[in-house]
Amino acid sequence: MDKLLIRGGASLKGELQVSGAKNAALPLMCACLLTPQTLRLANVPELRDVATLLALLGRMGVTSSRRGHTLDLCAATVTEPLAPYELVRTMRASILVLGPLLARRGEARVSLPGGCAIGSRPVDQHLKGLQAMGAEIAVEEGYIVARAARGLRGARLVMDVVTVTGTENLMMAACLARGTTVIENAAREPEIADLARCLNAMGARVGGAGTAVVSVEGVEVLSGTAHQVMPDRIETGTFLVAAAATRGTLRLTGADAGSLEAVIDKLRESGAEVATAPGEIRLAMNARPRSVSLRTAPYPAFPTDMQAQFMALDAIAEGTGVITETVFENRFMHALEMRRLGAQIEISGNTAVVRGVPALQGAAVMATDLRASASLVIAGLAGRGETLIDRIYHLDRGYERIEEKLSRLGADIRRVT
Ligand code: UD1
Repeated sequence: MDKLLIRGGASLKGELQVSGAKNAALPLMCACLLTPQTLRLANVPELRDVATLLALLGRMGVTSSRRGHTLDLCAATVTEPLAPYELVRTMRASILVLGPLLARRGEARVSLPGGCAIGSRPVDQHLKGLQAMGAEIAVEEGYIVARAARGLRGARLVMDVVTVTGTENLMMAACLARGTTVIENAAREPEIADLARCLNAMGARVGGAGTAVVSVEGVEVLSGTAHQVMPDRIETGTFLVAAAATRGTLRLTGADAGSLEAVIDKLRESGAEVATAPGEIRLAMNARPRSVSLRTAPYPAFPTDMQAQFMALDAIAEGTGVITETVFENRFMHALEMRRLGAQIEISGNTAVVRGVPALQGAAVMATDLRASASLVIAGLAGRGETLIDRIYHLDRGYERIEEKLSRLGADIRRVT
């Protein structure tokens, strides 16, 4: 199993191109199921989650071809509307095939995602919405079995919790439903607006995506289109924090500062100079970072997917930061690993109190989930001595060639097998 070996201490310096967003690419790929024509996606990141979803779509009869970061997907016919357990269990986002399959084929069989390291993460809101649109849903032998023999119909859906993939799933299903669907208390993440742009280019009528009320007027058929995946705001944020934690200077191109305001505010509060221009973010950190306190919540508040990285920053900052996680229970596993590096972190319920120490000391640690892995990389880069991170397959799910990108910025990091 691959590991990452990091020799800490170098300041990150230089320029990087941000990749396309994982969390935009995955729902966009599922949108191919809504049309028999070809969907061309550009700026698709090379990630394990993308490969997993390609395998899943392939099993359903979707043909694909890839040239660099451009991916052509064609669901001319959907041979088998089935998402099997062995693929779904490795990637919860597989649930995003449910809405499109049901809308296009009138039936779907998708494995329940089951437990997940960062909390129970149910899909009840996805199912409740589809039921309100006329689907019959049963759970049989661990599978969601959904049917809508006479097609889906528009409905008013009020979400009990703000869910990103839930909003995306229902939005895609509604595109081919009869009549108008209104999703209230929708998630407002920028990836939802990106999906809506693509759906509308395919002929859908989606309004309000990116706000709390999304309305979708159903149409008979959708066509193919070409769409560019938005930049990855979490990858962007991760590199910015890595540069701040190592007192570096960084210029990121292909980045979208507009989708990262809460994160950029916190970086400035920690003492970083951040300048933004269209498609570009620059950061310079000239002194030891100051601790920041934060509370995660749905967009536009501070993203849960950046919580772990800021814990690494607080671990070496001056002062004490209080981090409150409100989106997922049990998303502090990285804190235990960071303690092995000498971080002083106390956890009580969903709050972590991080007392900054002058320096972390390298050690062997274990990655527990995607963003936790990124936080350990940052801690290792900012620390002294060698850090060996095990189970980095988590990292490969969501970061495109992270060690190559960091090496280019002067980090001493390499993959060992
Ligand atoms: C998406 C992101 C993930 C991010 C998360 C929160 C993708 C592919 N993944 O995950 O990176 O961390 O948003 O920003 O975009 N919930 C329910 N019932 C449901 C659905 C969700 O109770 O039916 C709860 C979850 O347990 C969680 C909260 O709602 O506590 C938010 O989850 P959700 O927004 O659905 O996360 P994902 O869409 O899975």
